[in-house]
Amino acid sequence: MKIGIYPGSFDPITNGHLDVIRRSAAVFDKVVVGILINQSKKPMFTLEERVKIVQEVTSQIPNVEVKAFSGLVVEFAREQGASVLIRGLRSNTDFEYELQMAQINHDIDKEIDTLFFATDPRYSYISSSAVKELFMFHQEIGSYVPEYVVQKLKEKETSHE
Ligand code: PNS
Repeated sequence: MKIGIYPGSFDPITNGHLDVIRRSAAVFDKVVVGILINQSKKPMFTLEERVKIVQEVTSQIPNVEVKAFSGLVVEFAREQGASVLIRGLRSNTDFEYELQMAQINHDIDKEIDTLFFATDPRYSYISSSAVKELFMFHQEIGSYVPEYVVQKLKEKETSHE
């Protein structure tokens, strides 16, 4: 079985991420979305919330699993029986960072390769940080994230009031 790992922070998941998940699920037998437990970053959504949100918005794609991971992504991939990491590429700026990450990961484990999906141009300027900032300034974000994420952002906002 060919398994691909799609790692990220997903704080929150965007339509760009979802597009990469859909397209990679058509290429791999199984795609494991790996949500990073990053102690050094203070996410807006807790790990449990991020896992729940990604599960919810990918529930219609049968060969997608959502798991949390900490530490090195190559170790997580190995644990999952995968040798391919999946990442989306939006721009040249992404490319510089992603190339370095792919090369480091391949250097740590020669069995691991990274497969890049060219982001659909409709999503090339969307990022989780931009979505959070726009939401904070009461801008419309309905075309950037799934409706479920809009709801969750609204719930966060009301719980902080
Ligand atoms: O969505 P993001 O925040 O751009 O995802 C970054 C992620 C999670 C893919 C990257 O930070 C990662 O793989 N972290 C795990 C630690 C690791 O393996 N580092 C070595 C690669 S430089």
